[in-house]
Amino acid sequence: MGVFEFHSAFLICGLLLLAGMVILPIFFGAPWHPLMPGTIRRILRFADVRPGETFCDLGCGEGRVLITAAKEFSARAVGVEIDPLKVMLARLLARINGVGDRVQIVRGNLFDYDPGSADVLYLYLTHQAMDKLFPEILKKLKPSVRIVSYRFCLRGMTPEKVSEDKTLFLYQLDKGTKINNYS
Ligand SMILES: C[S@@+](CC[C@H](N)C(=O)[O-])C[C@H]1O[C@@H](n2cnc3c(N)ncnc32)[C@H](O)[C@@H]1O
Repeated sequence: MGVFEFHSAFLICGLLLLAGMVILPIFFGAPWHPLMPGTIRRILRFADVRPGETFCDLGCGEGRVLITAAKEFSARAVGVEIDPLKVMLARLLARINGVGDRVQIVRGNLFDYDPGSADVLYLYLTHQAMDKLFPEILKKLKPSVRIVSYRFCLRGMTPEKVSEDKTLFLYQLDKGTKINNYS
């Protein structure tokens, strides 16, 4: 194999791997879409994440939202991710950022995960995935939990707060369950 063929094979393998990481998760719940650092901070400020709180990301990708929650907002962070490559990357990034002890990445299916310890539940999924999660997941959550969803609102639930650009939605069970369709 010549140098050109080797480079082409390397490039094709890389592209296939990347396509797999982005596209395959669509069939499990949501595609991968890494966020800009400014958007991550905006999400965490919108959720009003406080020191010592447990911040949970269902479908955590490469874990940068969790890492920022732990590093800049002093939260305990836990995420679930189905893609083993992203799980490895997230664990590595958490260690590199010095928050390996405060960021836990669980490899698994978010639909099987119990987020009962979460003070803040963060979701960046799709409407289909949300419809599959809700209302069942409400039974597992703390009454005081704050649910923050990026890009997708929860059908039938009234948000407590919506960002100006209407990309972020915050739901509070103890304030909202009685008026929601899911109660
Ligand atoms: C849009 S990305 C969001 C990543 C991260 N939460 C963020 O905000 O940057 C959705 C992630 O969910 C993961 N995912 C999709 N279906 C899943 C499932 N059933 N269980 C666990 N993770 C899943 C995908 O691999 C992808 O990394």
